[in-house]
Amino acid sequence: MPILSILTIPESSLRQKSVAVKPTEILKLKPLFLDMIETMYCADGVGLAAPQIGQNIRLAIIGKEGTPDKKDCILINPKIVKHSWKRVKDEEGCLSVPGVRKEVARFAKITIKALDAKGKPINFQAEDLFARVIQHEIDHLDGILIIDK
Ligand code: CO
Repeated sequence: MPILSILTIPESSLRQKSVAVKPTEILKLKPLFLDMIETMYCADGVGLAAPQIGQNIRLAIIGKEGTPDKKDCILINPKIVKHSWKRVKDEEGCLSVPGVRKEVARFAKITIKALDAKGKPINFQAEDLFARVIQHEIDHLDGILIIDK
C-alpha cells in the first residue's frame, strides 16, 4: 500500500473546511483509510485527518496508541455532541506543523457522534488522550491548526 505524502503549512487544503462524506461513498473509501493508517504509523503520528493528505472530506483516523481499546479508530463525519466544562491543557504536535509543540486546552471529556468505517452510526464518550486526539483531528476538518489555538 502506498505511503501518502503529508501536507504541511502553508498548504491551502489544511485551511479549508472539509465536506461531509456521503454514506454511499464510505465503502469506496476503504483503500484510503488503509493508506492513511499506514501513512500515520510511518510518520509516527497518533492521528491523521484527510485534509492532511489533500482530501477535504470529514474523515479522520486515530491510531491505537491514542485509543482506549488499542485499536485503530476511523471516524467519518465526527461531531462533538456533548462536552465537559472542564478543559485540560497539554502539549500537542502536528505532522502538518513540523517542529512545533504547543500547549492546547481541550475538553476533558466529549461525546462523539460519527459513522464508522462501514457507515454504521456510532456514539461514544472519550476522555484523556483519546478525547484530545479526536478534538485535534476535528479541528483539522474545520481548517484549524494548533498554531491557531
Ligand atoms: Co494535526
